[in-house]
Amino acid sequence: MTVHSLPFIDLQAQRARIGEAIDAGLLRVAEHGQYILGPEVKLLEADLCQHSGAKHCISVANGTEALAMPLMAKGLRPGDAVLCPSFTFAATAEVVAWLGATPVFVDVDPHSFNMDPASLERGIAVAKAKGLRPVAVIAVDLFGQPADYDVIESIASAHGLWVMSDAAQSFGGAYKGRKIGTIGLVTATSFFPSKPLGCYGDGGAIFTDDDDMAVILKSLRVHGQGTDKYDNVRIGLNARLDTMQAAVLIEKLKILSDEIAQRDTAAQRYHTMLKDAVPVPRIAESCVSAWAQYTVLVPQSKRTAIIARMKDDGVPTMVYYPKPLHQQTAYRDFPLAGNGLPVSERLAQEVLSLPMHPYLDAPTQERVVASLLRALKEA
Ligand SMILES: Cc1ncc(COP(=O)(O)O)c(C=O)c1O
Repeated sequence: MTVHSLPFIDLQAQRARIGEAIDAGLLRVAEHGQYILGPEVKLLEADLCQHSGAKHCISVANGTEALAMPLMAKGLRPGDAVLCPSFTFAATAEVVAWLGATPVFVDVDPHSFNMDPASLERGIAVAKAKGLRPVAVIAVDLFGQPADYDVIESIASAHGLWVMSDAAQSFGGAYKGRKIGTIGLVTATSFFPSKPLGCYGDGGAIFTDDDDMAVILKSLRVHGQGTDKYDNVRIGLNARLDTMQAAVLIEKLKILSDEIAQRDTAAQRYHTMLKDAVPVPRIAESCVSAWAQYTVLVPQSKRTAIIARMKDDGVPTMVYYPKPLHQQTAYRDFPLAGNGLPVSERLAQEVLSLPMHPYLDAPTQERVVASLLRALKEA
């Protein structure tokens, strides 16, 4: 018997809702022909400012450049240390290394999966002991839940560090009444297709309330331009968001709040069905997760078998992330906040992400849960 496989993220269900409006937007761009920094780019940036409450939004080509450009704007250089979690996607630390600076890896909290403030303190001490200058913290909002910014910001300011929020997975969420995009000196997000706000290719954006930072970011985006792109006042990049992608995002942003509410409903349903069987995600009080992922923990010795059994049932799962960065070949020589990062190392062995998107219905989730519970018992 062939089993019908569920999608992990159902982008076609979203197309059924707003596909026509997106296609019309794409056609408008094809016809007006302003493919680079066309009117949709400006409009999207204004919409993103309004949605987040940030003063400035600079759209860019992808989330990785969104993380790198603020570091460039602040003149990050060799000898500088940037504290970041190890349990994250490579881009978070990669951009620090691009500039010859040193990422210092910090452990995460076992419940939120986000930066552990006690480990951050240890990381700052380790950086200093190694003769590095700690200058910044990149906090990651893993799986959509904002990091614990009140505590992180107070540690950072006590040590004279500035904070960047890696909100690649959390745009649309909120931390204690502060919307993502308004936290730290600067916030970077990604519009990779699978993100809560995703486009039809690569895209990203940077948010800041700092006027000087905004001017430099706009310059960096187009080869360090001054009065125009043939006046080069600093070393920059080509990091523009395509007008076509802006047209897609304008339509998707209109339904983002509704989609996040729908993701939250789906997360609550998983919670009710799974809370007595496996450790489930915990969202801190007064925080809104964008629910980029719904991630549970399963016994390390059984995970491979669980994944295989669920696959046989037509239920896709993902492991984000199978190896923390400090154990990756490219990153293993960078300093750690302590003697190993035990929580990151354990989570990498136990996490399992289940299908999550705004268009999940109860029967589909019951099928996912039944498959997981059976796999847990039989694996
Ligand atoms: C936490 C995190 N940071 C950064 C990125 C990089 O974004 P992009 O793939 O758009 O370059 C991603 C997404 O893939 C991510 O999940």
